[in-house]
Amino acid sequence: MEIGRKIIHLHSVDSTNNYTAKLLHDGEIDHGTVILAAEQFAGRGQRSSEWLVKPGENLTFSVFLDSVNVAVDQQFILTQIVSLSLVDLLTKFNLKPEIKWPNDIFVKGKKIAGVLIENQLRSKSIQNSIIGIGLNVNEVDFKGFIATSVKNETGEFKSVKDVLYSFLYSFNKTWNMFINNLDSLDEEYHNLLYLRDINAKYQDNNGEFNGVLKGVQPSGRLLIEKEGRIKDYDFKEIKFILKNVL
Ligand code: BTN
Repeated sequence: MEIGRKIIHLHSVDSTNNYTAKLLHDGEIDHGTVILAAEQFAGRGQRSSEWLVKPGENLTFSVFLDSVNVAVDQQFILTQIVSLSLVDLLTKFNLKPEIKWPNDIFVKGKKIAGVLIENQLRSKSIQNSIIGIGLNVNEVDFKGFIATSVKNETGEFKSVKDVLYSFLYSFNKTWNMFINNLDSLDEEYHNLLYLRDINAKYQDNNGEFNGVLKGVQPSGRLLIEKEGRIKDYDFKEIKFILKNVL
């Protein structure tokens, strides 16, 4: 199951997820291969957004997982494992990361990493998975975005490649620790969930409201207590109204 035995370094590419998908289409990629790019000129984020970062300063890469033995209705466990791997990595830098549902890692209320997972399904299980990760390493100016980086938080410059190698180690460790222990995975994920049990502002189809995030269902739907009742949301149905904490 190990990832990272093969790493392909690219200078510039549209998106490492797209590049991985092309290699897969051409039958030219093995399980665990990592595609790392110094620059992405059409990096993609969640909700069809863009992922724009300064070339060379941050980590932008994809990991290809073949024959993932995970049922379609359990695909959220991949998100959980990737999130916990990023938390493990950032904790090594003495940071206190939290998992912002569905696909971000936050430090002190600011985004430090984003994940874009694209699965190919075969009947009831995941056939393979492209895990795209953007991690802010050395960038310091986020021009008004509620974002931060390892450098911003620790004051230290880090080699992007060394951070990648540490991530691969964290991922392999996290996978082995939790893949046969899904209850612990879910518990650990919930322990690290940003804004859990805290009153905060959200927006759903009916407008803005104050609610309390209670957890995430195994399907990946978010549970929020709204006016005394628990409601569940898909990621397109709910928006966090975040405060810019300086
Ligand atoms: C998000 O926060 O919306 C997810 C961002 C994911 C960005 C990464 S960078 C490497 C990989 N290639 C992409 O085009 N996107 C992901």
